[in-house]
Amino acid sequence: MISKQSAYGAESEAVRALGPHRLAPAPIPAYLQNTYWWAYLHPRAVHIFERQWLVNLILWGNFARLRNAALAEMGEVINGRVLQVACVYGDFTEHLVRRLGPQGSIDVIDVAPIQINNLHAKLKLAGADSERVNALLQDSSDLHFADASHDDVVVFFLLHEMPTEVRRKTVAEALRVTKPGGKLIFVDYHKPRAWSPFRYLMVPILTTLEPFAMDVWNNGIASWLPDGAAVAKLEKKTYFGGLYQKVVVTKAA
Ligand SMILES: C[S@@+](CC[C@H](N)C(=O)[O-])C[C@H]1O[C@@H](n2cnc3c(N)ncnc32)[C@H](O)[C@@H]1O
Repeated sequence: MISKQSAYGAESEAVRALGPHRLAPAPIPAYLQNTYWWAYLHPRAVHIFERQWLVNLILWGNFARLRNAALAEMGEVINGRVLQVACVYGDFTEHLVRRLGPQGSIDVIDVAPIQINNLHAKLKLAGADSERVNALLQDSSDLHFADASHDDVVVFFLLHEMPTEVRRKTVAEALRVTKPGGKLIFVDYHKPRAWSPFRYLMVPILTTLEPFAMDVWNNGIASWLPDGAAVAKLEKKTYFGGLYQKVVVTKAA
């Protein structure tokens, strides 16, 4: 049986294993410990969930489609500096890395040491160039990057897991570090259309397992942008009867 306590014990193991990546780890946010410890913090959870078929099943077969829709926004070849905000189970980052051109680099941040460790293992297996792919322990609501430090920023299925205030800060931080003219790409849940059975089927699932997710159904992602945000363009596309959305914010030049 997975217990919360052993999840925390395993985390300190993970922090120790990080070596140089231990630098100034951010504390694990309370919502992550209390609500999602079983999904992201416990080593057995990583063992269970880090399976491509399972993450694809959780997204009703849409993982590759949504991953590719997010990555396509950055182009076939990435020659700038990209930030992925939070680790993702499955092969999202491996596919991001495959697009790296000779001048490109990728930073991936996550607040959970065990997730950063897991990413290191995945990237090593995928033979990623460790010089140009950095996995860093940071909290998305308090990024340790300069303003306008990244050409594009991608946030894949993170916002629905956050309480409103953290979500608001995460969106503001992601926009802050995006360069003028760069893209901030969100993929997340969305309220399905009235005819979709998922409009009804997903409510008990999300309200039981993901207490903040209905916020993302009921409000547009634009509503968490800071007041007066420097936005040149905001494009939204929905998928799978509206259960998922991609929102691309282009920062004003
Ligand atoms: C991107 S979200 C969910 C992605 C998707 N459901 C999946 O299959 O992985 C999960 C990640 O967000 C991370 N996370 C949650 N809150 C965070 C925060 N405030 N800062 C950085 N990472 C955070 C968790 O540690 C976890 O690795």
